[in-house]
Amino acid sequence: MALRAAVFDLVGVLTQPSVTSFWDRAEEELALPRGFLSKAFLKGGPDGPSTRVMKGEITFSQWVPFMEEDCRKCSKDSGICLPENFSIKQIFEKVLSARKINYPMLQAAVTLKQKGFTTCILTNNWLDDSAERGSMAQVLCELKPHFDFLIESSQIGMVKPDPQIYKFVLDTLKTSPSEVVFLDNFETNLQPAREMGMVTIFVRDIDAALKELEKVTGVQLLQTAVPQPISCDPSTVTHGYVPIKPGVRLHFVELGSGPVVCLCHGFPESWFSWRYQIPALAQAGFRVLAVDMKGYGESSAPPEIEEYSLEVLSKDMITFLDKLGIAQAVFIGHDWGGMLVWTIALFHPERVRAVASLNTPFMPSNPKVSSMEIIKANPSFNYQLYFQEPGVAEAELEKNLSRTFKSFFRSSDETFITVSRVCEMGGLLVNTPEEPTLSKMVTEEDIQFYVQEFKKSGFRGPLNWYRNMDTNWEWGCKGSGRKILIPALMVTAEKDFVLTPELSKHMEDWIPHLKRGHIKDCGHWTQMEKPTELNRILIEWLETDARDLPVVSKL
Ligand SMILES: *[C@@H]1O[C@H](CO)[C@@H](O)[C@H](O)[C@H]1NC(C)=O
Ligand SMILES: *[C@@H]1O[C@H](CO)[C@@H](O)[C@H](O)[C@H]1NC(C)=O
Repeated sequence: MALRAAVFDLVGVLTQPSVTSFWDRAEEELALPRGFLSKAFLKGGPDGPSTRVMKGEITFSQWVPFMEEDCRKCSKDSGICLPENFSIKQIFEKVLSARKINYPMLQAAVTLKQKGFTTCILTNNWLDDSAERGSMAQVLCELKPHFDFLIESSQIGMVKPDPQIYKFVLDTLKTSPSEVVFLDNFETNLQPAREMGMVTIFVRDIDAALKELEKVTGVQLLQTAVPQPISCDPSTVTHGYVPIKPGVRLHFVELGSGPVVCLCHGFPESWFSWRYQIPALAQAGFRVLAVDMKGYGESSAPPEIEEYSLEVLSKDMITFLDKLGIAQAVFIGHDWGGMLVWTIALFHPERVRAVASLNTPFMPSNPKVSSMEIIKANPSFNYQLYFQEPGVAEAELEKNLSRTFKSFFRSSDETFITVSRVCEMGGLLVNTPEEPTLSKMVTEEDIQFYVQEFKKSGFRGPLNWYRNMDTNWEWGCKGSGRKILIPALMVTAEKDFVLTPELSKHMEDWIPHLKRGHIKDCGHWTQMEKPTELNRILIEWLETDARDLPVVSKL
């Protein structure tokens, strides 16, 4: 029978280091004989304190004095001396605080789940009430969403290698033994599983274990040198809704805790365009709010053009923070979202912890040259003129949403939309195929998500962002003497032929302390074309410029 379920032990398999490797080290440091600690651990047998702690009958802190007592007994039995200051608590605190997720193994589990496997973590653990318990919480919080089941001995009152826990696993997974592969770093835990008919993998060396897992499942697990960052599933993430004013609300997706990072997408996109950034930034210790900008998705899409001026849009975002009780946020924007975050930084700096833009440079209004004149003078902005007449671009882009998004979302070496001479040609898609091939950076499901989102309100709201050129320019002129002196980052994309790196070259005149990131071989859709590179740049910058919240003086 083919395998269709994979069961992973936690410590030593999904996390490193294993407890035993730490025990080995502690024994060395304390000059105890090899195996001393595991012998003491098992001393009480099936009714002893160690079994009881793993079954959840007592907590970790209750167990520690028992274990110390057993260590003393063992040392007496074998005639050795325990150091004066011997402390089990300290040994464990070291193990727990050094714990790290074993990412290649996690990636393999994620891949198997994507291929239809039922996945499960099966761990002998304890109810952790130690001072280090936060580390356990963090590891489980990160791992759990990637698995179908988490089975903890301390929650069900059964422990490995008792055969009844394996029966419990089979019942939970609704599988027969021969459909299960089980990975553990204790041979004693594997043996009963094997006897029941499960395929077992003894994990000592991670690479070797992954090779074996690949062989028995027939699923390629080792090929991806740089694994794609983890994405978001719209149906399982947390959604929020903020009323901005009567008839207008903003929708957002939220993940993580820590300083707030507010993500503002561009045209014609969705909160979903940040799907590869949301889990990564949350994991880095930030509270991520990915907003459906006004006009998009589950946010309101009022028909009036004035609703989409930068002044109104900025004020909407400030209200968004007010309503959530957030004093400051890091704003990160892309495309029109980039334009918006620069504007917020210029007009409401006190609300901005730090600001970053992808592709879109800061282009302050020049009181001597109107934005319209600049757009008319630059051939690659010609499509923006085509967008001016209400109804025209709407009709073209809404005609077949699937074709529209397949034509738009293409990587730098797959592009076929031309942005110049759009007015002359009479449309943006006139020279693109009726049935474009799927770009390598999106799946059919990704495209269908955008299609569903745009069925709600169409392109009128999104296009209205382009229809306030004069209003935006006049308003922007009020800030033309200002500089941006709060922490700021500009990320340029080498092959964005509209928002070129070149356009950003004078930004230091206005933002003297600007930090920069640059992504090679990247076109316009930075978040989905180069997620790994982008996440690295953003996290590095956030760590240095956005980590510490300002101290609020207590009155
Ligand atoms: C115990 O004493 C040794 C030697 O003085 C020292 O290296 C170690 O850190 C101490 N450990 C504890 C648990 O205090
Ligand atoms: C819409 O576009 C898709 C993708 O290009 C294509 O497969 C489909 O046939 C089109 N539908 C219509 C009604 O033209």
